[in-house]
Amino acid sequence: MREYRTASEEETQALGKRFGEEARAGEVYALTGDLGAGKTVFARGFAEGLGVGTRVTSPTFTLLQLHEDGRLPLYHFDLYRIETVDEAIDIGCEEYFHGAGVSLVEWAERAEELLPADTIRIRITRDPAEDDVRSIVISNA
Ligand SMILES: Nc1ncnc2c1ncn2[C@@H]1O[C@H](COP(=O)(O)OP(=O)(O)OP(=O)(O)O)[C@@H](O)[C@H]1O
Ligand SMILES: [Mg+2]
Repeated sequence: MREYRTASEEETQALGKRFGEEARAGEVYALTGDLGAGKTVFARGFAEGLGVGTRVTSPTFTLLQLHEDGRLPLYHFDLYRIETVDEAIDIGCEEYFHGAGVSLVEWAERAEELLPADTIRIRITRDPAEDDVRSIVISNA
């Protein structure tokens, strides 16, 4: 387990980029943390590290965005709005999680039972005392 502390959006994006540069085919990254914690910021850096040029966003009703223009395909999920795990199954989560690209899943706890055993966990929490400070804990199962 590794813990990082970032003091700005830019630092979190840079950390995500480092992980994106190292990512390997078939990996699943589960991002958890409250609304506004910085999951999408991390994802944006991660995509950059993979060489993705298309924009990483979190549109309200899009559960999955595919980015195929990087070094590996990136499957970027945002499961905030699903109510049952069946909705994740319906969009093909399991195929993607076991696919040839890299899965990055915001609100991964919504589909906990579908995550492979070797999922890489990334938990982002705000510092209660300092507005722009985040703790980012990364662990492999
Ligand atoms: N150290 C930091 N790391 C990341 N974001 C930060 C940091 N400090 C401040 N911020 C701000 O926090 C917000 C993080 O937003 P982001 O969309 O990444 O959150 P999220 O975890 O994806 O939320 P959601 O659950 O709504 O998708 C941004 O407005 C960003 O500027
Ligand atoms: Mg987000």
